[in-house]
Amino acid sequence: MQQVQGVVARKKGAPVEIVTINVPDPGPGEAVVKVQSCGVCHTDLHYRDGGINDDFPFLLGHEAAGIVESVGPDVRGLAPGDFVVLNWRAVCGQCRACTRGDLHYCFATHNAKQKMTLDDGTELSAALGIGSLAEKTLVAAGQCTKVDPAARPAAVGLLGCGVMAGIGAAIHTGGITRGRSIAVIGCGGVGVAAIAGAALAGASPIIAVDIDAKKLAKAKELGATHTVDSSKTDPVEEIKRICAQVYEGADGADVVIEAVGRPETWKQAFYARDLAGTVVLVGVPTPDMKVPDLPLIDVFGRGGALKSSWYGDCLPSRDFPMLVDLYRQGRLDLDAFVTEEIALTDVEAAFDTMHRGDALRSVVIF
Ligand code: APR
Ligand code: ZN
Ligand code: ZN
Repeated sequence: MQQVQGVVARKKGAPVEIVTINVPDPGPGEAVVKVQSCGVCHTDLHYRDGGINDDFPFLLGHEAAGIVESVGPDVRGLAPGDFVVLNWRAVCGQCRACTRGDLHYCFATHNAKQKMTLDDGTELSAALGIGSLAEKTLVAAGQCTKVDPAARPAAVGLLGCGVMAGIGAAIHTGGITRGRSIAVIGCGGVGVAAIAGAALAGASPIIAVDIDAKKLAKAKELGATHTVDSSKTDPVEEIKRICAQVYEGADGADVVIEAVGRPETWKQAFYARDLAGTVVLVGVPTPDMKVPDLPLIDVFGRGGALKSSWYGDCLPSRDFPMLVDLYRQGRLDLDAFVTEEIALTDVEAAFDTMHRGDALRSVVIF
């Protein structure tokens, strides 16, 4: 066991604290990782505010890259010194989803079996089964994906959550390929990542929709071919107009990604897609939100697919190395997602920055 500093949410809604935590030595199938960078995600804030569950105290953080320090018994293919990106879906390979072939929907993902604890022995709940806003963290070996060690940790660590969710929503869930049209409603970190993913896949046009001009400018940098300020124009009409301009007769985009997580924007996505098109909900709604009241005849008439995307339907062992390689080649600008590099003590301030909508990602550097 060793003691390190970590960011803990002790009480619902209370500011986070930097405290000493105990990290056990790795047991069977486990690894201890020396964290080099960790992004601050909306989900950390949801944990702090009790929006996920009430298993306080939480050790926050889950968008990390670092170096494996030690591994426990029965760990294969991972060794001290390996550079890894952490993931919160280490597939089991045995559950119904896995055996059916939908590994990205594994119901029984692996986390570390042992608990990290506070100085007084109180067990910590690791946010999303990781808890990487700490100098070191204990994870299941399957939560570590080895990637090119020459990559910048602050950038590639973001693949651990929001950026992967966005890219995957476009290429995996949405099935975006060359020559498909796409619109993305909501251009925060997740939406802009969907745009970057669509650009990588060769989609055209790539239409970014937001109510904030700053976000639209960023979307353009990451590959949007058109932008629509939906506080000024009807996004449904505008998406249809742009798509028809490019593809004669098109009645919307082949794929529309909803990256806000609200009924009204989901409804826009529903009507902005072409006949037989796909709607992908990747923004996370709150439990009280309802599916908008839609004429069933419109669901029938437009056909296609209404999907949701959880972690971008990713498979970390397949996707992380590929995306890191594309980053290293200069084809995927992961650096653009790192708005600021901060210290461990600045996490609470990063939540404020997030509220103001000023950052794609604040990343703690260790
Ligand atoms: N129409 C279009 N865009 C909107 C609207 C709207 N009505 N309302 C908000 N937006 C935009 C915001 O301006 C912002 O750019 O949606 C974007 C949301 O981005 P972020 O708050 O940065 O969230 P992000 O990290 O991208 O995550 C998106 O997925 O993980 C979840 O909780 C997260 O629900 C959130 C969603
Ligand atoms: Zn499984
Ligand atoms: Zn996250």
